[in-house]
Amino acid sequence: MKLDGKVALVTGTSPNIMGGIAEGMAEEGANVVCVDINPAYAEKCAQAVKDLGREAITIACDVTDEAQVIAAVDLAKETFGGVDILVNGATVFNWKGVLDMPVDEWRRQTDVMLTGAFLFTKYAAKQMIDLGRKGNMINIISTAGHQGEPGNIGYGTAKGGLMNFTRSVAMELAKYGIRVNSLTPTATDRTEAFERAKRWGVEWPGPRGGQRSSGWLADPSTGSPLQKLPSPRHYAKAASFLASDEAEMITGTDLRVDAGAVAKYWIWDPSADAAP
Ligand SMILES: NC(=O)c1ccc[n+]([C@@H]2O[C@H](COP(=O)([O-])OP(=O)(O)OC[C@H]3O[C@@H](n4cnc5c(N)ncnc54)[C@H](O)[C@@H]3O)[C@@H](O)[C@H]2O)c1
Repeated sequence: MKLDGKVALVTGTSPNIMGGIAEGMAEEGANVVCVDINPAYAEKCAQAVKDLGREAITIACDVTDEAQVIAAVDLAKETFGGVDILVNGATVFNWKGVLDMPVDEWRRQTDVMLTGAFLFTKYAAKQMIDLGRKGNMINIISTAGHQGEPGNIGYGTAKGGLMNFTRSVAMELAKYGIRVNSLTPTATDRTEAFERAKRWGVEWPGPRGGQRSSGWLADPSTGSPLQKLPSPRHYAKAASFLASDEAEMITGTDLRVDAGAVAKYWIWDPSADAAP
């Protein structure tokens, strides 16, 4: 197993992507610290990790609250001896463009994605340095952080910022042997999230709280070069690899698990170019 005996702290553990990454890391042998502002998501994720035979703790925490972040990182140390892997995934979706976005909502959305990742990175890194742990960190981006998406200004801006935050922190922490990378998901098949929500016994409202952008493809898989959408388990495999010693020479990079979305030449329609 790739992560045997490692301790992963994962933020934003809904039954969708981060719950999938937490379970996937547990399948690779990691114990997991499940962090979410929604206590039910943190608790049910921790239970799912235990059901896989690993240890887990639940921390209800607002990632933008410095005192709560310090307490979470401290509790991880008290319980497991320290954090080896940090995965920053907590996110607020808010489908508004620059013309419609109220400044307080802009501040909150960018705060959760940027300040939340900044605080957990700061205190997890300090702990790793104090303990002499050569850990690693993964920031969850989005194809919307690589490309211009109308009507999603806070999200696209924060995700683009988080990608260069990743590179900057990777350079700063390299001398301590701490690796920092990002992982880019894209529009995601919802089947697994609904199945996981049912298994966990929680409600999951769907991506972006059920909101949908106008002007999207009716079936987003038709725009995907691989003609299907990734599921959380695909992100979990990639995250486990990045977090493992197999990736010991990888830092400051972004691993896209996007079915080819960012690489695609914009004028090409993959659905019109099916193999015979
Ligand atoms: N769903 C997609 O299609 C998609 C695509 C690309 C990237 N992503 C990224 O993947 C990650 C997970 O997305 P998801 O679809 O599973 O989202 P989700 O909405 O299902 O989960 C986000 C979680 O973050 C938590 N959260 C929000 N504010 C918080 C705060 N202040 N403190 C702590 N927790 C907080 C929520 O309670 C929720 O559990 C995010 O970083 C997202 O940007 C998602």
